[in-house]
Amino acid sequence: MLNIILLGPPGAGKGTQAQRLQATRGMIQLSTGDMLRAAVASGSSVGLKAKAVMEAGELVSDAIVSALIGERLDDMSSAGAIFDGYPRTRAQAEALDLLLAERGRSLDYVIELLVDEDELVHRIVGRFTCAKCGAPYHDELKQTKVPGTCDVCGSTEFKRRPDDNEATVRTRMAEYRAKTAPILPYYEERRLVRRVDGMGTVDEVAAEIDAILDS
Ligand code: AP5
Repeated sequence: MLNIILLGPPGAGKGTQAQRLQATRGMIQLSTGDMLRAAVASGSSVGLKAKAVMEAGELVSDAIVSALIGERLDDMSSAGAIFDGYPRTRAQAEALDLLLAERGRSLDYVIELLVDEDELVHRIVGRFTCAKCGAPYHDELKQTKVPGTCDVCGSTEFKRRPDDNEATVRTRMAEYRAKTAPILPYYEERRLVRRVDGMGTVDEVAAEIDAILDS
């Protein structure tokens, strides 16, 4: 089973593609953003630490997110993993190598989604998800087939993220440029990086990713 990282700025489509891979290939999506939002919602000590940092669009500490990933890897069988939104710093990239090696696993690909930042703001500000199953939608780009009803689970409840406003999105992008994009050479040295045009439709991006995973 493959272990891959989806890398790209906020709104690049990491979550959309990770969910699709989970549904079609039996891989497991490991999204540190989702884990942190669950911690915030539960009121745990991790959530209390993360809440304000996330609402400001800044990065939560390396130690917290790497511990979350380690716990999830322990719970998983040999199913392949899609790391979505992790790692985001060099320290996290090194921690992930260690976490995988300790479990006899390694990375197969780092897939970078290439996108235009102005388009990303549009994508993020219109984004909403199903409150029950988490399926992603957009006010204009990906509407539900039946208005007000989730295509996947039929729920009629939806939610929007508190950090999905233009000012916070700009901070999140600045964080990506300053701290996350610089980890690419770490993986390029190992010839793990594959680039995908993230500006295509969801299906076009999916086809490019599938071609990489099947190669
Ligand atoms: P996180 O939840 O990881 O957010 P993010 O990286 O900012 O990414 P997004 O979830 O916003 O975007 P995405 O790339 O998944 O795009 P999506 O598929 O939804 O992190 C949130 C916060 O948590 C961080 O700011 C930080 O504070 C903290 N955090 C998380 N991980 C951390 C870590 N490792 N270290 C430290 N802090 C951490 O798509 C966006 C929209 O576009 C959707 O509406 C979708 O329907 C639409 N769309 C997707 N693809 C396409 C397409 N091809 N064409 C048209 N529309 C599309």
